[in-house]
Amino acid sequence: MPRRVGAATRPGAALTAAALSLPLGGGRAAPRPPPRPCPARRRRPATAPLTGRLLACRTPSAPRPEPAAAGREAAMSLLSAPVPLLRVYWIGLLVILHQLRHRLLPRCPPTPVFPTQNGKVAIVTGGAKGIGYQTVKHLARLGMHVIIAGNSESEGQEAVRKIQEETSSGKAGVMLVPERKTEDGFEEHFGLNYLGHFLLTNLLLDKLRQSGTHSHNARIITVSSATHYVGKLHLSDLQSRCSYSPHGAYAQSKLALVLFTYQLQHLLAANGSHVTANVVDPGVVNTELYKHVFWVVKVAKWMTAWLFFKTPEEGASTTIYAAVSPEMEGVGGCYLYNEERTKSADVAYDEELQRRLWTESCKMVGISD
Ligand SMILES: NC(=O)c1ccc[n+]([C@@H]2O[C@H](COP(=O)([O-])OP(=O)(O)OC[C@H]3O[C@@H](n4cnc5c(N)ncnc54)[C@H](OP(=O)(O)O)[C@@H]3O)[C@@H](O)[C@H]2O)c1
Repeated sequence: MPRRVGAATRPGAALTAAALSLPLGGGRAAPRPPPRPCPARRRRPATAPLTGRLLACRTPSAPRPEPAAAGREAAMSLLSAPVPLLRVYWIGLLVILHQLRHRLLPRCPPTPVFPTQNGKVAIVTGGAKGIGYQTVKHLARLGMHVIIAGNSESEGQEAVRKIQEETSSGKAGVMLVPERKTEDGFEEHFGLNYLGHFLLTNLLLDKLRQSGTHSHNARIITVSSATHYVGKLHLSDLQSRCSYSPHGAYAQSKLALVLFTYQLQHLLAANGSHVTANVVDPGVVNTELYKHVFWVVKVAKWMTAWLFFKTPEEGASTTIYAAVSPEMEGVGGCYLYNEERTKSADVAYDEELQRRLWTESCKMVGISD
């Protein structure tokens, strides 16, 4: 079976971090149990109150607030940029220290060997660079037919050429971009990192359902980030129109991906589909994602990345694990970090919030709920 890698591009398309793997030509057998939910997952009762912060923009006709309230509002608006910034750097620092501890501990985990994946297809968004590129390379080596969904056709072709040479034989995202919009008019972090993936997955869902079988579930893998732990979902201002903070917008898009994955898994399990959805946190990885950070941080990264950051190959390992590991067969609704199931932020388990985000996202991309 030849190893094939192809690039599919749509200029300006809003795609996000994702890898979808679907077995080809799988027939359906008699009634089978639905995918197992992730054992690490704690579900909240449907009646749990919303914990996502609701933020309302004031319209010109709205009554003026009392002076004290106006003062509070002004203070909030002043803090709307530095607070998310500090939170994102704080969580980044914690992850880096955790990675360093792992690196310094003299333990030699065996490099996992995964079964060949001949006859299966994977779509990796953002597969031309960074973590996505390493994912494509590994999946192609395992014999999968890989489709790179990317931003630029030439970069996609270049990635295909490099992989074919090297092997001889998802993950689109942006971070901390200045306030700007996708072609479809969505705030870029929310549109590209989250909504694009939401729409792509929904458009592929029927195909994934047809392809999954009891023994070979189709797998949807979404790439989030530790920043989701400090993210706030502003349901009434998902596009950060009231106040924009690049750090807040990035963290919100990554929290949205976790909420979306859990809701998706819930829906898939409810109708007995042989499709699983999991979400991955790659850690802090030395890629071009940091091109919009403050120059001081860029210099610090340039000097210390060899010690503190994961390589793109290391960063891709959990996505590959989620895509092909036999241990993950039929398991969905997990947050995976370092190839292990772990707990995501509490707010991500809020079922009411998951549902409301899903409904809102359907409205935004124009599909039925
Ligand atoms: N690096 C980290 O430390 C880290 C940590 C946590 C999570 N992540 C997540 O991991 C994912 C991959 O990031 P990375 O570190 O590998 O970054 P990267 O090296 O910058 O790769 C991002 C990829 O996304 C593509 N992309 C950007 N806009 C796109 C669009 N509109 N349509 C299609 N593709 C688009 C980029 O293509 P162009 O360059 O051509 O635009 C690039 O190939 C992201 O979702 C990121 O949030 C990364």
